Amino acid sequence: MKEKLLKLCSVVNHELQTYFDGDIPQKELTQAMRYSLLAGGKRIRPVLVLGFCEASGGDMDRALPAACAVEMLHTYSLIHDDLPCMDNDSLRRGKPTNHVVYGECTATLAGDALQAEAFRTLLSSPLPPERTVKMGQFLGAAAGVYGICGGQILDIAAEGKAAGRDELENIHALKTASLLVACAKIGVAAAGGDELQLEYAGKYAHYLGMAFQIRDDILDVVSTTGELGKPVGSDKKSGKSTFVSLYGVKKCEELVRDNTFKAAEAVKKGFKDSDFLVWLAEYLAGRTK
Ligand code: IPE
Ligand code: IPE
Ligand code: MG
Ligand code: MG
Ligand code: MG
Repeated sequence: MKEKLLKLCSVVNHELQTYFDGDIPQKELTQAMRYSLLAGGKRIRPVLVLGFCEASGGDMDRALPAACAVEMLHTYSLIHDDLPCMDNDSLRRGKPTNHVVYGECTATLAGDALQAEAFRTLLSSPLPPERTVKMGQFLGAAAGVYGICGGQILDIAAEGKAAGRDELENIHALKTASLLVACAKIGVAAAGGDELQLEYAGKYAHYLGMAFQIRDDILDVVSTTGELGKPVGSDKKSGKSTFVSLYGVKKCEELVRDNTFKAAEAVKKGFKDSDFLVWLAEYLAGRTK
């Protein structure tokens, strides 16, 4: 299964290289976009698109532009998340953050452009228009008020406060799980999957996303900057309200396991061949970076 993950990552990395590579006057912008997009990263979101496309009986090659699109959107969210007005972090994917290298103005625009290009790339997919429309709707839902932006503003508003469990779950669901839900559903839609498959894909990715963000909050406390490729202790520095600040690391490890179990149950119910996706959830639960 690990080989399959590595193979999918390599296909995505290879394809991502082909974007924004022209010789144009606004090259400072495309350089900044490519700097963050090609800096590495686990590529979990594109892998979800491809994995669900395959589990729904689709052709992964045709879902490849959509897989690249979700990574563009995710990368935009990281560039903006690191800005001084947000988490104010200076290391990402093992390299200085975008604004540290290119300045705040270019970094902001690189994020803006990556978000727009994500939609353009997805909407140019070699798929029937009715599938592409659905995919665009899923991505829009994850990016906006009811997704990343909505979650990020609640995350910032909760700084210096002790948020309760419901509030934190809502923040995690919006800022992190929403994009994973979109990725899973985009994969199903690319394959022309049915409503029931969309529902179970969404459930899986919701629980996966909750586990993923709780694990991220744990790693911020127990990992090292060298291993993570981003600064540890960032949440404490900003006075973030996280599951770890609420419950401590041990209880959070249990929450990661619970959510991962629920994710696995959902995908087993909805798909005949769910082995890779079940393995992926378990692999991510134990990740160290
Ligand atoms: C980081 O996402 C932001 C969160 C939602 C926790 P990833 O941990 O997937 O970051 P990359 O893409 O591997 O750099
Ligand atoms: C991720 O939350 C939120 C995004 C949507 C980008 P964090 O702020 O915890 O992510 P990291 O730890 O900086 O990657
Ligand atoms: Mg943040
Ligand atoms: Mg951050
Ligand atoms: Mg974090």
